[in-house]
This record gives sequence, structure tokens and C-alpha cells, in this order.
Amino acid sequence: MNLEQLAATARQMVADNKGLLAADESTGTIGKRFEGIGVANEEDNRRDYRELLFRTSGLGKFISGAILYDETLRQSAADGTTFSALLEGEGILPGIKVDTGAKPLAGSPDETVTEGLDGLAARVEEYAGLGARFAKWRAVIRIGDGQPTPYAIGVNAHALARYARICQEGGLVPIVEPEVLMDGGHDIERCDEVTTETLKRVYDALYDQGVALEGTILKPNMVLPGTDCPTQAGIDDVAARSVQCLLRSVPAAVPGIMFLSGGQSEEEATAHLNAMNAAFPGLSWKLSFSYGRALQAGALKAWKGDAANAGAAQRALLERARQNSAACAGTSSEQAA
Ligand code: 13P
Repeated sequence: MNLEQLAATARQMVADNKGLLAADESTGTIGKRFEGIGVANEEDNRRDYRELLFRTSGLGKFISGAILYDETLRQSAADGTTFSALLEGEGILPGIKVDTGAKPLAGSPDETVTEGLDGLAARVEEYAGLGARFAKWRAVIRIGDGQPTPYAIGVNAHALARYARICQEGGLVPIVEPEVLMDGGHDIERCDEVTTETLKRVYDALYDQGVALEGTILKPNMVLPGTDCPTQAGIDDVAARSVQCLLRSVPAAVPGIMFLSGGQSEEEATAHLNAMNAAFPGLSWKLSFSYGRALQAGALKAWKGDAANAGAAQRALLERARQNSAACAGTSSEQAA
């Protein structure tokens, strides 16, 4: 493991108020996004859409890296430039989702464990050869009646740590993503409790398995009430609880925490991040973004599968990236809707 190189890449991912574009939707998930705008889920459409995103002029000013899906890392732009070369040319590091999805957990089938460890070392080697510099693995924790069980948290933490160690051995910075879902009627206290417990178990597992935290990135959920909770929380409350939860759980050696958006609107995701950085300057880790839906929703809506709309879609993406970069400095002036 070359820790110096891994740590330098991890620091680069959160430098200069930049964040990540999560464009690693699996073929099924991008199909759902395309369905919303009436676009067929065909390889050419997926390629055209990703090329549009990656060719956004000036994106590298706000975005340090893009997370790709296996198919995308192997694709090229219309002029034959590989997507990884295209991104590198814009100063954006290519990354790769390496998990193979959350599957029913044996013994507790309403919960999931994320799979993809078999053969992972060989895939990491191949992905590094294709230009990837970092990787992502998403564990899913659902809050419900009697859930999550300590068992589900434990196996997901163990798998995240196995993945992280394998990536570091293969030269990729692992993004460690334990997502506590927003779905449900639970209140913000319950989300706080479950997120704290999950993060503590994840950092125990990372320690047990010898993962060098300086060469990792954390991608957590924010601390939010469930989407069906009758009592929703204000921006400043979400910001304060999220930072306090992280302070209790995440070692200072971690260079960056890059939130997922998890179903928040574009404006909410920006406002929450902005409030954290405005109210808590000087934290040991950088607080940034690794948004999928909260960077792409407007771009998808503008594009609608029509090449004539590419410019409008790129402007929408660039504006979200710019606002989120400002939020990394706590200087976004945008108001949440
Ligand atoms: P969202 O920001 O849409 O939650 O996606 C980020 C991601 O990469 C989830 O794994």
C-alpha cells in the first residue's frame, strides 16, 4: 500500500471547495431516472448523457472527481476519447463504484448486506488500469420497526472494511459509504442515534482490518428526520446535528467527509452543507458533497434525451456544482425552497 499517494489523492478530492459528481447509477437505476424524462434505457443514451455531463465546460472548477459505473468507465466519447481521459483533461479524477448492490441479508431478509467482495482485488487492479483513482461501496441501513439490527450494521461494517482494505492494497482510495436511508416516519433523534451507532461500528471495523484512515473518504447521510415524519427539521438543526454526530464518531485522521444527497432536493442538499460549513469553520475534516440526484436532477429535466438541449442541461449542472462548491466554503447565498 502506498499510503502517501492514497492520502494525497484523498486530500485532492476535497481540496479547493470541490466535491464529487456521483454518476455511478447502475443500469437499473439510470433506467429509473430516464423513465422520469421519457428516455429509453439504451446504451447509446446512457453514453450520450454521461458525455454531456463530463463535457460541461468549467466543471473542474467545482468538481474534483466523478464516480462512474463499470459500463461508463469502459465507454468513450463520440470522438473516441475514453471517458477517464476526458475527465482527467478537465482536472477531474475518475472513480468507480465497485459494489454489486444491496441484497437480502440471510437471517434478516428485510435488511440488506452489500455484495461484491468476491474477485474484488482483481477488479480493482483492472479498474486502476482503466484510469480509476478511487472507488465507492455503499452499504444501506434502513430504519424501521426493530431495524436496523446490530447484526445488519455489523455485517455491513465488516464488508465496508474488507472493501476498503482491498482498494487500498490495489491503489484506489476507498469512499466508505454507510447510508442510513431517509425513508420512514422516524424522527431526527432516531436518525442521529442510528447514524452514530453505524459510524462507530464502521470505524471499529476499519481499525480492526488495518485500513489507513488518511487514505479514505467518508460518504455519510446527513442527520435528517424520515421523509414521513410529521416533524420536519430546520436547516440549522440538521446542520448542527449532522456535525455533532460526525464529531462523536469520525476520527480526525479522515481527510474528507463528502455527503450523499439521499433524496433531498437540490436546494436542500446545498443549504444543509452550506449551513454546516458556515456554522462550524475549522473542523479537522473537510465537509463536502458527493451528490448524485442533487447535482443531476435539473440537468436531466433540461436534457430530456434531446441533443439540442445539451447546453441547457450543462448549464443546470454547472450551476448546481457552483452552488455546492460555495456551500463547501459556507458562502452559498441560495435559499432552500
Ligand atoms: P444521491 O446523492 O442521489 O444519494 O447519490 C449519491 C450516491 O452515490 C449514492 O450511492
